[in-house]
Amino acid sequence: MSAAELQRAVGEVLIDETTLQRRIATLGDEISNDYTGRDLLLVGVLKGAVFFLADLMRHLTVPCEIDFMAISSYGASTDSSGVVRILKDLDINIEGRDVLVVEDIIDSGLTLSYLMRNLEARGPASLEICALLTKPDRREIDVPVRYVGFEIPNRFVIGYGLDFAERYRNLPYVGVLDPALVPEGS
Ligand code: IMP
Ligand code: MG
Repeated sequence: MSAAELQRAVGEVLIDETTLQRRIATLGDEISNDYTGRDLLLVGVLKGAVFFLADLMRHLTVPCEIDFMAISSYGASTDSSGVVRILKDLDINIEGRDVLVVEDIIDSGLTLSYLMRNLEARGPASLEICALLTKPDRREIDVPVRYVGFEIPNRFVIGYGLDFAERYRNLPYVGVLDPALVPEGS
């Protein structure tokens, strides 16, 4: 895919690189303050959260570890089915740990709601969510999100880890997917 083709998928830049990075630094400060004196375990939800997690972690001043989970998502469609499957589980035991789940975006909330119930059952000392983006208008189930980067309108976004059919994750900003590329019925 050429740079021009990559750009063409973006209808509009929603959050530019500077704005993203500034907000992530602030979130890092906030989390470092809140977890002072504790040992943090960041759980990244593959694959979209990888970029956010890597940048966020560089702003943390508390001792921290990372682990990853992969859960099934939409495939090539842009709508959540609510059917969630664990594709890759954590490597480590989270019992008694301070866990912060790092997610790229909360849409309906169905994926994260399932994930939180699953993690809660493992007996962590604390369990919170940090999401880069949230679409409050799309929420179907309430999920308590402790840290939010940006609230965004109900548009399908790509870039900075977010994909459409596994592409466009490498854009350094968050853009709205060109409506011409959104499949019918979504
Ligand atoms: P939920 O279960 O509807 O909250 O969906 C959450 C997951 O759907 C996220 O982790 C993303 O992988 C994906 N998703 C939701 N909205 C978007 C979007 O606008 N762009 C890209 N992926 C999205
Ligand atoms: Mg996805």
